[in-house]
Amino acid sequence: MVKYEAGNLNEEMSFLEMLDVINEELISKGEDPIAFDHDCREGICGTCGMMINGVAHGPQAATTTCQLHMRHFKDGDTVYVEPWRAKAFPVLKDLVVDRSAFDRIIQSGGYISASTGSAPEANSIPVSKPAADQAMDAAACIGCGACVAACPNGSAMLFTSAKVSHLNLLPQGEPERYRRVMNMVATMDAEEFGACTNHRECEAVCPQEISIQFIAKMNRDYLVACLRKTD
Ligand code: SF4
Ligand code: FES
Repeated sequence: MVKYEAGNLNEEMSFLEMLDVINEELISKGEDPIAFDHDCREGICGTCGMMINGVAHGPQAATTTCQLHMRHFKDGDTVYVEPWRAKAFPVLKDLVVDRSAFDRIIQSGGYISASTGSAPEANSIPVSKPAADQAMDAAACIGCGACVAACPNGSAMLFTSAKVSHLNLLPQGEPERYRRVMNMVATMDAEEFGACTNHRECEAVCPQEISIQFIAKMNRDYLVACLRKTD
């Protein structure tokens, strides 16, 4: 751990802007700035995660690090900031980790084989309201990795189940439903993420409030896929 004094802050600043201020001071002194990942700074892209006082994305529920503001800390507080800790997310530098294992899980099944072309008429494939709502809830995952970092097993089950479910729940995702779940779970295991033992830490820190119900759904699809394979 390295200790930095952070002055010139105000309560309207985001957590990343606080790091920007520290980095500007470090650069002006000719020192190495703190490396951290960020892109949209709007809670959309999922790149900005870090452990803040031991909690993934910090103290505010359903909030990414970039959307966390300094008004949630007291003047003079010591704040402990660490990178995601998980075997499958090796630390590259300071607060930056390699989350490309998530990309490989997506590559192994996060697509549909329906022909593309011009957009079909919106109502030509009927989707029930409950299925559409659940698929949208699953599709809200931004791939930040907080679920993995918070889990004592370093499990990616919440992330993977969200990515499996948002396609498996829709008719467009049906043709690859069982192949998708087999492939994505196999890649998740190959990337050395741990298994789920129902701690629910993932759900508690997820900035998109993804429910562990999606893990149960994924497990059911996986079981059916295994049974179909042995038929
Ligand atoms: S499930 Fe939640 S915590 Fe996990 S990657 Fe998706 S948005 Fe982030
Ligand atoms: S920088 Fe994009 S979600 Fe935080």
